[in-house]
Amino acid sequence: MPEATERPYILHMLTATPQMSPFDVNMAADAGYQVIVPYCNVGSEHVVTLTQDAIFSRGPKGVSRTGIFIGGRDVMLAADMLDTARHAMVPPFEVSVFADPSGSYTTAAALVALVEKHLKGGHNADLGGKRVLILGGTGAVGRVAAAMAASLGAQVLIASHSDIARATQVSDEVNRRFDIATTGVSVRTSDDLHHALSTAEVVMATAVAGVQVMSAADLSHARHLLIAADVNAVPPEGIAGVHVMDDGKPLAGAVRQDALGIGALAIGNVKYQVEHRLFVRMRTGGKPVYLGFPEAFDEARAIVGVSGGGLG
Ligand SMILES: NC(=O)c1ccc[n+]([C@@H]2O[C@H](COP(=O)([O-])OP(=O)(O)OC[C@H]3O[C@@H](n4cnc5c(N)ncnc54)[C@H](OP(=O)(O)O)[C@@H]3O)[C@@H](O)[C@H]2O)c1
Repeated sequence: MPEATERPYILHMLTATPQMSPFDVNMAADAGYQVIVPYCNVGSEHVVTLTQDAIFSRGPKGVSRTGIFIGGRDVMLAADMLDTARHAMVPPFEVSVFADPSGSYTTAAALVALVEKHLKGGHNADLGGKRVLILGGTGAVGRVAAAMAASLGAQVLIASHSDIARATQVSDEVNRRFDIATTGVSVRTSDDLHHALSTAEVVMATAVAGVQVMSAADLSHARHLLIAADVNAVPPEGIAGVHVMDDGKPLAGAVRQDALGIGALAIGNVKYQVEHRLFVRMRTGGKPVYLGFPEAFDEARAIVGVSGGGLG
């Protein structure tokens, strides 16, 4: 039977949380999805059923116009849900799946790719072997940035302002899940923070929005600092002296004259492009794709013009 109109692009958006992110709904629509359906409070035990319910109704032609997005807050759960959805496919009934919980995969991808770019451009150095301190590293963006940087060979400290137990627990979790070797560190007191800063070559600030995690006075303890990157766009600056638009700008007040700052809107600009491109790739690639944080990172590197080995 001939079809009267072309089938719409449908995106099924799953989240383990009570609400789907409006940011991601907007991004999906702007990337060409026409019917967008959120499914909230989705447990990992629901993913096989929902995936198979989505793939069988539209025929092999329709599945190429159908996609699944996995959101939520939990970066490990989303990685597991992406794997589960992929394994639930029954070829040729197979649809593209993209995970980006809390924007963390695309934000961390943009953050780490820009750090690589400015390490190379400003210091002729790679991330491999660098001492990286992630302030607010126990959160969604911090965990993924830690996984990426450690996979590239950096020595990563995941810092918590709460206590060492939380830092160690998160570090152990990401190490197990992603087969990496990070270390948890407490920055609860100023002395703790200054001790951690004293050896750091790269500082990434990924704490909750609107909190300053490194003041101008703290900066004077970062004697080896090459790059300071801050994802927080809500005043005050997460790292004093790193302005939101900075994109490899000399960092005033740093001990080393060649230290560079990367701000939240420079990172956000790349994050936006990564997410848009991944949604478009789902719809237009011609075959099903499975997009997690390694794919987000490859896309971010392509956008900022960095090449290198993939995530190990
Ligand atoms: N630029 C962009 O494009 C972009 C995109 C998405 C998100 N973001 C930003 O990325 C940041 C991280 O987002 P997220 O979802 O990963 O955050 P999150 O999980 O909500 O929080 C990250 C960490 O912040 C720490 N924290 C909480 N309260 C704090 C305080 N008062 N002082 C210091 N640390 C505190 C907590 O760790 P501990 O208690 O263990 O210290 C928490 O694990 C946010 O600032 C968000 O706005 C930026």
